[in-house]
Amino acid sequence: MDADLIKLVNKLQDTFANLGGELDMPQLAVVGSQSAGKSSVLETIVGRDFLPRGQGIVTRRPLVLQLIHTPVPDTPADYTEWGQFLHIDKRYIDFNEIRREIEQETFRVAGQNKGISKLPIHLRIYSPNVLDLTLVDLPGLTKIPVGDQPGDIERQIRSLVLDYISKPNCVILAVSAANVDLANSEALKLARSVDPQGRRTIGVLTKLDLMDAGTNALDILTGRVYPLKLGFIGVVNRSQADINAEKPLGDAMESEGEFFRNHAAYRNIAHKNGTRYLAKTLNQVLMGHIRDKLPDMKARLNTLMGQAQQELNSFGDAAIYGDKNQQGALILRLMTQFARDFVASIDGTSMDIS
Ligand code: GDP
Ligand code: NA
Ligand code: MG
Repeated sequence: MDADLIKLVNKLQDTFANLGGELDMPQLAVVGSQSAGKSSVLETIVGRDFLPRGQGIVTRRPLVLQLIHTPVPDTPADYTEWGQFLHIDKRYIDFNEIRREIEQETFRVAGQNKGISKLPIHLRIYSPNVLDLTLVDLPGLTKIPVGDQPGDIERQIRSLVLDYISKPNCVILAVSAANVDLANSEALKLARSVDPQGRRTIGVLTKLDLMDAGTNALDILTGRVYPLKLGFIGVVNRSQADINAEKPLGDAMESEGEFFRNHAAYRNIAHKNGTRYLAKTLNQVLMGHIRDKLPDMKARLNTLMGQAQQELNSFGDAAIYGDKNQQGALILRLMTQFARDFVASIDGTSMDIS
């Protein structure tokens, strides 16, 4: 039921996007300093390599990444995983091609010279290996302009990041590296500025494997250093050497599990850390937000439904029988039906989800 609810919400977002509208839905945004491991975290959640990497500012436009769980196909020959951009009508089964397209789209809109653009790239990943989540990857927080970057690049990026994370229904994935003093975490500073109570911020601590020998992050991971209602989750991503050696993500997740289970300091909290636990937590948090938003969404949908129904009536019978020339009427008819189903499903679930 809960997974269905999220699917329904994703579909609703698409419907509104296609109609040129916007619905303020919960999202998860990834923030952190450059090279904190944001792209690595996103890739391990998706379970595929597909994000551009490199030195400097690689992510220069927001990437709105919608993960959609699909069933395992009956025939092994069928595609099990693919990507689809909103700006191109094409199925990408080669994830290297997805990476190239993100790069090209970034260049096309944000230019060749390390500038940034607020215009997001929309990408959907369909896979049996993902939980239903919408994630937003954002440019890394940086202080010093490089190359042709404008002098106010820090302000530009902060402003872009704030556009996303200041929305009260944005869940903030604040990524900090464990080998940098947490007091200097730009991610936590920015998250705190919009979420002072730490109610909608999840701390993600990367690079636990790179801490100095004899030190550990147990105090941070158990919430004794920095108060966050949703807590800190430690992860170990692939090192640059692992990436260069093309270490498969599956192997990396295995190594990550072993790291926590075999580490004297983390053994007892191994089950509450790692990429899989992070993905699970994200899904739960997202559902909680949707649940809180249900009454408001229902009211807005009822209004839209009434308007659509009125417009639909003005189209007459052609709308009902789907005259091919009546594209607008068809969309309205589908949308009305969809909104009706949606409201019905909310009515059906409102009792058992609280
Ligand atoms: P981003 O700039 O925040 O998106 O960071 P990336 O995900 O691109 O990672 C930057 C670099 O740090 C890459 O070379 C990664 O391989 C490395 N890295 C990220 N997370 C970890 C980690 O947990 N352990 C180790 N050893 N390296 C990591
Ligand atoms: Na990077
Ligand atoms: Mg990145």
